[in-house]
Amino acid sequence: MSLQRMSQPGLRIFSTGAGISAESGIPTFRGEEGYWTVGAKEYHPQELATHYAFTQMPAEVWAWYLYRRAVCRAAQPNTGHLALVEAEKLLGDQFLLVTQNVDGLHLRAGNSPGRTFEVHGNIDYFRCAENCTPEHYPLGEGFLPFAKGQKLSPEQQALLRCPRCGTWARPHVLWFDECYNEEHFRYDSSRSAAAKAVTLVSVGTSGATNLPVQMGFIAAQRGAFLVDINPQPNPFSQLAEQQGGRWLRESASTGLVRVVKAIQGG
Ligand code: OAD
Repeated sequence: MSLQRMSQPGLRIFSTGAGISAESGIPTFRGEEGYWTVGAKEYHPQELATHYAFTQMPAEVWAWYLYRRAVCRAAQPNTGHLALVEAEKLLGDQFLLVTQNVDGLHLRAGNSPGRTFEVHGNIDYFRCAENCTPEHYPLGEGFLPFAKGQKLSPEQQALLRCPRCGTWARPHVLWFDECYNEEHFRYDSSRSAAAKAVTLVSVGTSGATNLPVQMGFIAAQRGAFLVDINPQPNPFSQLAEQQGGRWLRESASTGLVRVVKAIQGG
């Protein structure tokens, strides 16, 4: 089956995961990500990326996020990210990008904030830990660089406060013990877009998180053309093949270049 249906008019959604940023040198979430040591205890990311951990040790959780953010800021968008910028230029309002990635690389590559739903947040921003306001604030340059194992100084801790109520600020990311919502993560908008899509292209995701998987099934039920781009089998590649779609068993960068060519009618 060719990729010709990518040129069919209508809403085309691109749903990206950590695999698209792997080629920029950012470790995938379930890949070789290292452990994080606090005191003598080692923590896996899934233990630290929780609201509970933040309530118990806010400074240590912040230090881990500021380190990960520094890794993201040192990375550059790659060919896959740039292909999605090209897709948005070609499609305009018939383009929507839904990303699980918090690294901000899609926006830095040039995709527009209005057509980019960061459904797990963005590591470059913080917000009030008590949610006194839904505002997201940029972390700015003051915490760069931030080395692995570095501790927050008292001065830096004093900066990580809500500018409105003065309580702790928190990273603007979705934690494992939290739920999606529309206000911070565009939950309802993502689901309703999937119900209107004529094609859904999933890229570099293992299908381990809830909203992207829901979107895949909603689009499939609607008869959308499904494409998965991933060197490894995953729920999206299986769904695509079951629904007469395509599994491009290759990297995000080469697969997305092919998809953009198909949109151009190439
Ligand atoms: P994972 O680390 O779970 O999966 C990465 C996927 O990318 C795997 O299926 C790899 O086969 C694939 N991959 C690796 N290199 C690739 C490449 N060059 N091109 C294409 N694919 C490649 O990452 P995600 O599925 O994105 O959520 O899941 C990450 C989410 O899970 C995070 O956003 C986080 C975590 O729970 C929250 O924090 C809420």
